[in-house]
Amino acid sequence: MAEAFNDLTLPDHKAARYATVAQEIAAVLEGEPNRTARMATIAAMLAASFDHYFWTGFYVVDPDKDRELVVGPYQGSLGCLRIAYGRGVCGAAATTGQTQLVPDVHAFPGHIACDGRSASEVVVPVFDAQGELIAVFDVDATEPAAFDEVDAAWLETILKAAFS
Ligand code: SME
Repeated sequence: MAEAFNDLTLPDHKAARYATVAQEIAAVLEGEPNRTARMATIAAMLAASFDHYFWTGFYVVDPDKDRELVVGPYQGSLGCLRIAYGRGVCGAAATTGQTQLVPDVHAFPGHIACDGRSASEVVVPVFDAQGELIAVFDVDATEPAAFDEVDAAWLETILKAAFS
């Protein structure tokens, strides 16, 4: 059945879609050194690939501030402009350097509600080739528990290939 084949709630089908979009992203980014262009392309291509992505984008490390993220390229409704390290899910990813998989944002201490429709999210830290944190990549969904280890692992792979 075509519907079953395309059912991205099934982990194998979702993984296959990530594998395809990862190749497409790599092809589009080939030869483009500009970091903003790379981030904008990744946000746009991932947001267009998955129906469960409601807000998709980067919070970049602000070199002019002490331990603060500032919004970067994104797709979706208006995002908060700044997030201090340690605040909310993005701040936790920046502080720990670990991917945050949050099935219920309302249960996450200090969650920042940029858009009240967000119910679950995954945030992946992004490092440069020297291992320095340059950004976090945040994806929100309106459904609870919309993300799992398949999303987290593929996002880590795509972001590592693009920036590390
Ligand atoms: N939910 C995030 C804030 C960013 S937005 O949702 C776009 C957080 O708590 O870090």
